[in-house]
Amino acid sequence: MSVVIVGATGHLGRLTVEELLERGTPAEAIVAAGRDAERLAALAERGVRTARIDLDDPATLAPAFAGADTLLLISTSEPGRRLPQHRAAVEAAAAAGIGHIVYTSAPRADDTVLVLAPDHKATEELLAASGITHTILRNNWYHENYVSALHQARDLGVFIGSAGQGRVPSAARADFAAAAAAVLADPAAHAGAVYELTGDTAWTYPELAQTLTEVLGREVVYKDLSTAEHIAALVEAGLDEGTAGFVAALDGNIRDGALEEPTGGLRRLTGRPSTPIADTLRDLV
Ligand SMILES: NC(=O)c1ccc[n+]([C@@H]2O[C@H](COP(=O)([O-])OP(=O)(O)OC[C@H]3O[C@@H](n4cnc5c(N)ncnc54)[C@H](OP(=O)(O)O)[C@@H]3O)[C@@H](O)[C@H]2O)c1
Repeated sequence: MSVVIVGATGHLGRLTVEELLERGTPAEAIVAAGRDAERLAALAERGVRTARIDLDDPATLAPAFAGADTLLLISTSEPGRRLPQHRAAVEAAAAAGIGHIVYTSAPRADDTVLVLAPDHKATEELLAASGITHTILRNNWYHENYVSALHQARDLGVFIGSAGQGRVPSAARADFAAAAAAVLADPAAHAGAVYELTGDTAWTYPELAQTLTEVLGREVVYKDLSTAEHIAALVEAGLDEGTAGFVAALDGNIRDGALEEPTGGLRRLTGRPSTPIADTLRDLV
């Protein structure tokens, strides 16, 4: 077995490499790929093979992918630029004869109002058209997305949003990494599967305020805003209009129920309960 991890320099990729090593995958069977030379060096120190790649420069991909059986394609980080980057990875995988691609997608990517879904839906479609065996991991929200809520709550006793009573079945990045590693350990067993991966528990923003109250030891209140008020507050806090609109749109999606309820899919892959959000927030404090 040999697996290339595109995005190994990021949070989820690094955790997935760690999970693979813990599961006993030989370090030399892992190729950690990304742009950040410093983070690649840190991974090389752990014995894994590394490759500097840039999906915007497809010529960098062939040497990294040569000889690999499986590719973990972690979706890249700039919505709107992702599709050509993902296409470059899939084309390079085909050229290298990689037999299985595992892709990290978004909740219900093929049928959702989520504003970040179009790149993911299009990537799932190009994987289907590629003819390469693949597995889709539709990762729900990370607990870690709420680090800024944690900071607001710590400093002010209040955090803002516009998600109303919408529910979020989030899990820790480490849980999603464990699921990815479980699939990579035996890709053939997951050929063609599309997994909706969520934490075991869904919570609302007012419930998050209660959790933050416990974690921080101070009373925390959630202030629910309209979308327009939320955008204005984010711009006032220093975000550019585009980013503020995107963040508020995601909260609007949550308010409209786009993240749905827990599926149990993550727990089935990892064989363990998902990490409670309070534990992740405590670690982030
Ligand atoms: N489910 C959620 O709640 C949630 C939240 C945020 C993001 N996401 C998605 O999940 C992905 C993984 O999350 P994360 O927290 O690990 O994100 P992250 O830490 O930002 O990692 C993103 C990875 O993408 C790589 N990348 C970006 N552009 C690239 C390019 N042109 N060529 C090669 N590699 C490139 C980065 O490499 P370098 O750093 O080396 O450039 C990095 O390894 C994100 O990229 C995003 O698509 C999901």
